[in-house]
Amino acid sequence: MNKRLSELTTKEKIGQLLQIAPFFFIKDLKIEVAGPVRDLHLDEEKIFHAGSVLGIGSPEEMIAVQSAYLKKSRHKIPLLFMADVIHGYKTIFPVPIAMASSFNEKLAFSCARVSAMEASSSGIHVTFSPMADLSRDPRWGRVVESFGEDPYLIAQMTEAMVKGYTNDGIKKDGNIASCVKHFAAYGAAEAGRDYNTVDLSRVSLYNDYLPAYKKALDAGSRLIMTSFNTIDRVPATVNSFLLRKVLREQWHSDAVTISDYDSLKQIISHGVAADMEEVAKRGMIAGLDIEMASSAYANHLEDLIDNGTVSTTLLDEAVSRILDLKEAIGLFDNPFKGASSALEKEIVLSKEHLEASLLAANESLVLLENDGILPLHKNVKIALIGRYSKSRSIVGPWSWHGRRDLHDSLEEVLSDNLVFVSDKANIIDFDLLENEQIKKADVILLAIGETEWQSGEAHSRSELSVPNNQDELLKLREITGKPVVSVLYNGRPLLLENLQKSNALIEAWFLGSMASHAIKNVLFGDINPSGKLPISFPRNVGQIPIYYNHLNTGRPYLGPNDHNEYVSRYLDVENTPLYPFGYGLSYSTFGYKNLVLSDNKVKKDETLFVSVDVENASKVDGQETVLLFIRDLFASISRPVQELKKYKKVLIKGNMTETITFELKKEDLGFYLESGEFITEKGRYQIMVGRSSADYLSLDFDLI
Ligand code: BGC
Repeated sequence: MNKRLSELTTKEKIGQLLQIAPFFFIKDLKIEVAGPVRDLHLDEEKIFHAGSVLGIGSPEEMIAVQSAYLKKSRHKIPLLFMADVIHGYKTIFPVPIAMASSFNEKLAFSCARVSAMEASSSGIHVTFSPMADLSRDPRWGRVVESFGEDPYLIAQMTEAMVKGYTNDGIKKDGNIASCVKHFAAYGAAEAGRDYNTVDLSRVSLYNDYLPAYKKALDAGSRLIMTSFNTIDRVPATVNSFLLRKVLREQWHSDAVTISDYDSLKQIISHGVAADMEEVAKRGMIAGLDIEMASSAYANHLEDLIDNGTVSTTLLDEAVSRILDLKEAIGLFDNPFKGASSALEKEIVLSKEHLEASLLAANESLVLLENDGILPLHKNVKIALIGRYSKSRSIVGPWSWHGRRDLHDSLEEVLSDNLVFVSDKANIIDFDLLENEQIKKADVILLAIGETEWQSGEAHSRSELSVPNNQDELLKLREITGKPVVSVLYNGRPLLLENLQKSNALIEAWFLGSMASHAIKNVLFGDINPSGKLPISFPRNVGQIPIYYNHLNTGRPYLGPNDHNEYVSRYLDVENTPLYPFGYGLSYSTFGYKNLVLSDNKVKKDETLFVSVDVENASKVDGQETVLLFIRDLFASISRPVQELKKYKKVLIKGNMTETITFELKKEDLGFYLESGEFITEKGRYQIMVGRSSADYLSLDFDLI
C-alpha cells in the first residue's frame, strides 16, 4: 500500500476516486457551474477533495486549476490531469484507422511522441489513448478511432502508441502516461449502434478482442478505461470478470481502472442498480478505481464503508494505485509538471512536428484504383470539385485542439494547377456553363466524402453510401469527357461500387494537419502510395459484419465455381468484400514468388523460417507491406481461415527483388481456450504470404 494513505481521512481517500472537469476548481461555483454542480450533488468540500481532472486546454489553465486546488486542499496531493489526445494534440496526425493503413508502427510511435510533447507542455499527464477496440462493423462511428479488424495489427499499433507516449518514462517532462480503452469489446456493439449491447463468446473475447488491451498494458499503459457496453450482461464498468479475473488475476496488472464518461452511473439505465448507492457498491466491489464525471463514490462510498458493506481494504487498494501513479508521474516533486507557456509556444505546431505529421499522412492514404492516370504530370490542368475542395475541416474527429483555420486546403496546395474550383457537392447543382469551364481541364479531381462529424462517438450510420449522393459527381466524366480522380475523406469503410469506376480513387481518410500536402504528394508522384486497408470494405450493408479472419463454417462457399445450393452464401451478393483487408495499390508493380519454409515438419520449440521473394518489376522505388497469415487447419476449436501473424514494410528499389524472411514460433500459432488458457496444438498449419488477405502464396507444414 502507498505510504501516503495513512495521512488521508476516509473522505479524502474517496476524493481521489473522483474525476471532474477543470472549471469546477476555478469558476464561481454558485454562478457559473450551477448546473453541473447541482447534477453531481457535489459541495465545495467534495470538489476540493477530487483526485483528477478531465480535459485541459492550456498550461495557463492547468496552472490556475492546480494552484486553486492546492491552496484549498489540506493534504496537498496534486490533481492529476487527463485528456483525450487521440491522434495529436495541436499538431494533428492521421486518424487511427488511417494510421493503421500505414502498417508502419514507427509512424504511430512518432504520432504519440509528438502528441506527448505538445500535451505535456499544457500540463496533461495522462491521455485516454490508444483505443484498442477491435472493430468489424463500419456502421459504428468509432471505427475512425480504431486500428481496424485485425487483432494482431491493432496490438502492434497500440503498443507503438503506448511506447511513444511513455517513451523513456512517465516521470520525465515531455512524456505522458497512457490509458488504454475501452475495456472491453466496445467495438462489438450490436448492429454497429454506439453504446449498444455486446454479446460475445469467451473464446472470441480472449482470442480477438482482449489481446490488444493486454499488449498496451505490457507496453506500459498505467491506466485502463472501461467500456460503455455489457459483457455477459454485466456492464463492463462493474464487471468483476473483466476487472478482477482478467485484469488482476490473469494479467497480473496493477493498472488504475477508470470508468468511461458517466458510465458508472449509467449502470442504472443498464438495469443492474436501482440507485446511486448501489452504483457505488457495485463499482467498488467489481474493482473500478476512478469514477469519471459522475459522483456515486463521492456521495455514497463513505456510508457504505461506515456500515461495512464495502471494506476499507477495497478503498485503500484503489487509492493506493492512484497515489502510486501520481508518484510515478512525479507530481509530488512538481505539481505543475510539464506545464510551460514558453515551451508550448516553442514546440506546438513546430516545423518538425508538422513534418512528422506529413510523413505519417504520406503513408496512411490508400490508393484503391488507378488506370494509369496517376501520378499526374506537373503541369496538368485540374478542375477541383466537391465538398472538400476548399475546406480546411480535414483533421478528423477527436482532435479538440486541431486548428481548422490554419491548415491548407486542397485548393491552396494545388493552386498552380487549378483551372476551375467548385465546392458544390451535388451533380444537379452544376449548370452547362460550368461544365464548359470544366472542359478546360485535363482532369477532374473530386474531393468528397463524410464530414469530420459523420464518424466518431455517437455517430453510427445505418447505411454507408457516400453521403448526399456526392459520388454522382462522377457523372461529370460523361458530361465533360474528362477523366476523374476521386479523393475520399471518411472515417469508416463506405460503399464504393460507384466511385470504384473513377479513373483513380484515393482513400484519404482524415489525414490530419498536413492532409492536403500528402494528397498532393501522391497525386503528383512525389510519394509512392504504400497504405493498405486495415479493414474490409463491404459491397453492401447486408454483408456486415464482414472481415477476413472469419471461421470456415460447415458448408463454406468456395467461390463462383461452387454450384452447391446449400452452402453459406447470399443469393444476391458475393461473400467477398469489395476491397479486402490488406488491399492497396502502388505506383510500383510488385510480384511475389519463391515462398520457402525452412522445414515441413517443425518441433514445438523450434523456429520456422518463412521466406519469399518480392520483385519490384517497375522502375519506381516503392514500399510494400508483406503480410504473413496462418491457418490452423485442424484444431480442437474451429479457427479462422486466416490470421495475420507478421508483416514487414520494406522499400524495394525499382527493378530489384528483395527476399523477405519471417520467423514463426509456437506462440504465433496458438490460441486461447474458453478459460483464458493459451495453448499451441500439434498438427497441420497453412502459411500464406502475400500482398493482401485475398492475394497470396501458400504452403503447409506440420507442427510435431
Ligand atoms: C469516450 C471516451 C473518452 C471520454 C473522455 C467518452 O465519451 O467514450 O473515449 O475518453 O469520453 O472524454
